[in-house]
This record gives sequence, C-alpha cells and structure tokens, in this order.
Amino acid sequence: MTAVRLQAQALSVGYGERLVVSGLDLDVLSGSVTAVIGPNGCGKSTLLRALGRLLPARSGAVVLDGKRIDRTPTREVAKVLAMLPQSPQAPEGLTVAELVARGRHPHQAWYRQWSPEDEAAVASALEMTGMAELAERTVDELSGGQRQRAWISMALAQGTDLLLLDEPTTYLDLAHQVDVLDLVQRLHRDFSRTVVMVLHDLNLAARYADRLVAMKDGRIVVAGPPSDVLTEPNLLAVFDLDARVVPDPVTSTPLVIPIGHRHRTREP
Ligand SMILES: Nc1ncnc2c1ncn2[C@@H]1O[C@H](COP(=O)(O)OP(=O)(O)OP(=O)(O)O)[C@@H](O)[C@H]1O
Ligand SMILES: [Mg+2]
Repeated sequence: MTAVRLQAQALSVGYGERLVVSGLDLDVLSGSVTAVIGPNGCGKSTLLRALGRLLPARSGAVVLDGKRIDRTPTREVAKVLAMLPQSPQAPEGLTVAELVARGRHPHQAWYRQWSPEDEAAVASALEMTGMAELAERTVDELSGGQRQRAWISMALAQGTDLLLLDEPTTYLDLAHQVDVLDLVQRLHRDFSRTVVMVLHDLNLAARYADRLVAMKDGRIVVAGPPSDVLTEPNLLAVFDLDARVVPDPVTSTPLVIPIGHRHRTREP
C-alpha cells in the first residue's frame, strides 16, 4: 500500500475573521504528483500554505509523515518539505547563487556552516533549471521567468523529497513551462519525489499530474485522475466555463477547449 505523505484532515484555514478553506480532507500519496486547480481566489494558495506550515489550521490538522505539522519543528519540516510560494520576494541585491544557497539553511548547523555537499546541491539545482549562467546576476535584474526559475532552483536545492509549488510555471514561456514540468516529472520518476502544485493550465495539469484536485470556494469539488476530473460538467461546475473536452492528440489526456461567448451555439 502506498503511504500517505501529507494529509489535510477536516482542515479549515483563514485570515482574520474569514475562513477561506473549510473542512477540507486531502491525502497526498508518497511519490505522487497532485495538481490543485480552481478559479482565482478559491483558496489554492491558502491550502498550499497550510500544507507547508506557513499558515496555522483554524481547526482540523495537517499531518506530515504521520505527525501533526504544527507539532513538528520548522527545521525538521524544512528538511523534508520545500515550498515555492506564489509571489516570492527576494531581498534587494541578492544574487541568484545566494538565493539558491538559502535553500541549504535547514541542512546547516552552528558547527557546520557550508559544506561541499551544499555547494553541489546548489550547482545541481542551478543546472536542472538552466540557471547556471545567470548565477551571479542579482535576482531583481532578472526577467519574470528567469526569476521564477531562480526560486524553483532554491526549492530544489533544499533537497527535500516533498515539493509544494504554487504556480511554478507563472511568467514562463510555453517552452520553459514544459521544461519545468518535465523537470517535475523527472524528479517524480527518477527520485520518487512527491509533488503538490497549483497550476492554471488545465491541459498541462492533465499531462503532468496523476491526480487533480479541483477546488471552488475553499472546498474540493472533485478529485481524481485527470480524465475523471476534467469533464465538461465539472468544468462548468468548478470554473463556470463552457468547454469541450477532447483527447490530447499527443498524450490522450483530456484537452480542454474553451468555447467562450462568441462561439457558443444556442440550445435548440
Ligand atoms: N494574506 C491574506 N489576507 C487576507 N485575505 C487573503 C490573504 N491571502 C488571500 N486572501 C483571500 O483568501 C481568498 C483565497 O485566496 P488564495 O490566494 O488562497 O486564492 P487562490 O486560489 O490561490 O487564487 P489565485 O488563483 O488568484 O492565486 C481570497 O479571497 C483572498 O482575497
Ligand atoms: Mg494562488
């Protein structure tokens, strides 16, 4: 039986008075790739932050490897789980190499500040994202897509086997989107990494995830294999989107074709 790595149990999370995610249950299986989809503002980032211990549960719990995450020290969590937030901010003047090196902090201690192992993890992360040539540039002078890849490198350098990625493909051109998702797939296939990512591109989500979790108004509407989740009625229910779903000619996974008002044919 596949182990559950990360679990939300009747999880409610919010800001101030307001609950954004309520009573949500989710099992993330070891070695799986899960994509969270759903309309803007439905609570995807809030869920991911709670799963990554950046937001406390109002009620219910997040359980990591069988242990409540709020009872696990930050450094211990950071050794197994890396999180790429949706709009990360780097301190001014920080270089790409310095940013990525920060991913190694959980592995350092007062008696061992920086090791060849840290160096190798940083170099390999920069290599994997194609950022090695830009290592000495400062993060503020990068393009949106390069910056995104710098942050992904930092998450990879952390060397965790659990990755939470909030819209890892934002700002990336299509070729780099596919590169990043191919990289995710390689990490999954060759290193059995467990990945939970938020994606807006449903067709790429269908190709790269084993499981889709579709959210609306802070709840899961439907979850399962892409072909069960990306159906015309579900797209209407989750996104209020009129769409056709056809088999992707390359992968046979569902391909969502939005109809839009101009092309909507009247019901007879
Ligand atoms: N720091 C915050 N303080 C108060 N409210 C917040 C905060 N962050 C998000 N919210 C609210 O919580 C709700 C869910 O936001 P969240 O960022 O989780 O949505 P999302 O599904 O990730 O959306 P998107 O697709 O636009 O990234 C929104 O109504 C948002 O305004
Ligand atoms: Mg978000």
